[in-house]
This record gives sequence, structure tokens and C-alpha cells, in this order.
Amino acid sequence: MMRLDRFLSETSPLTRSLAKRALKNGEVTLNGEPIKQSATQIDTDNDVVVLNGERLALVGLRYIMLHKPVDVECNARRGLYPRAIDLIDLPKVERLQPVGRLDVDTTGLLLLTDDGQWSHRVTSPRHRCAKVYIAELAEPMEGAAAEWAIGQVADGLMLDGEESPTHPATLRLLSPTQAELTITEGRYHQVKRMFAALGNHVNSLHRSSIGDLVLDTNLAPGEWRELTADEIALF
Ligand code: URA
Repeated sequence: MMRLDRFLSETSPLTRSLAKRALKNGEVTLNGEPIKQSATQIDTDNDVVVLNGERLALVGLRYIMLHKPVDVECNARRGLYPRAIDLIDLPKVERLQPVGRLDVDTTGLLLLTDDGQWSHRVTSPRHRCAKVYIAELAEPMEGAAAEWAIGQVADGLMLDGEESPTHPATLRLLSPTQAELTITEGRYHQVKRMFAALGNHVNSLHRSSIGDLVLDTNLAPGEWRELTADEIALF
């Protein structure tokens, strides 16, 4: 059961006060009868609520995979760049929160959801969920220097201004200037700072997977899709 004005604000673009106004203006019917009382309790599964001819229904929890392009930020507040949620054409999109953040210049797999518990399972350090990044590096890493870097990353690196080393991580060189780094934490700018600690610099960064969930190759930068039930169940 739910108050009618709340139901309207959850299922349409109306705010709670605009919902009350729409009710007063006679724009709403309940089971075919005009209704004006905001406080009416409705059965959200069985009652039929129609606003200006459109039947309304509650949306369930939503789980989105976005191929984040560069120059898009994860913040909910409007800033210098478009927000990730601005790319997603869904009602009440501001309810979706990014599941962990990517820097404005990082591309790749960004998850968004309104399911706080699921988000916590993905991001909580306790769950040690592996995230895979591909970094284009400014300085080539080869031979003994590459072996040294791989060992440092496996042992844990001390990042500037931090008191504990990074958790053991895996570095794989795909070419002298392209590296795949798998980490299980989400410290601030972690990947860029790890390469800085190795004396290198990240020119560009892309996240390809989170746990067993891999960015869908059918999604071009800026495109998104809902996760399947099997994908949601991975976490
Ligand atoms: N590490 C970074 O440095 N940047 C990101 O966007 C993600 C991880």
C-alpha cells in the first residue's frame, strides 16, 4: 500500500507537490474513477492509476551497464561536464547512483543502480571484487624494469600520502606501453597513483571488467543497457 501522491511522484516525472496539484486538477483516475485525495492509500500491485490517459506502474530496482566515454563525470551534481546519468534515457534517472567512480578522463565499464545493497556488495573492500583496467603508459616498461614493476604491484605499493600499502594486485604488460592492472580496492585515483609510484604516467585509462562482469563489446562509448538477471546475480 502507498499514498496516492507518493505513488504518482514515484512513477511519473511529477514531484510530490505537482502530483497533489494534478490530483486537484482532476488529471488522475483510480480504477476508472476520478480521484482528488492525495492521502488515498492504494494497492500498488492491483489498483489502476491513470494520469492524463497514461497508466502508471512502479519501476523495480534498476541495474545499468554504461560504456562511459571521456569527458563525462560520475557526480550526481551538474558540473563542467555532462553526468553519466545524462546519457541514460530512463524515468527518474537521478535515482541511479554510480557503483564506484571513474575519473572524468577514464573510459569503460560503469555500473549504475538504485539498489544500495547490491552496490555495496560490488564496492565494499571486504568483498575484494577484482576490477580490471587497461592503461596506456607514457614510459615503455620492458625487461628487468617490467619484472620489477610486476613484483612491486604484487607485493603492494605505498601511495603518496597513504599509511598502508595497496593490496596485492596483478600487472600484465600487453605491450611495452600498454598494461592490464587488476586491483581489488577502489582508492582515490588508485590506478594512476600506482603507476606514478612506479615512476610512470597513465596517458589514458579504460575499465574493462568488474568481477566476472565484462563491458559488453556491443556498447559504443556513451551507450548503455540494463544488466541481465544472471549478471545482477554475479554480485
Ligand atoms: N583509478 C584511477 O586512477 N582512475 C579511475 O578512473 C579508476 C581507477
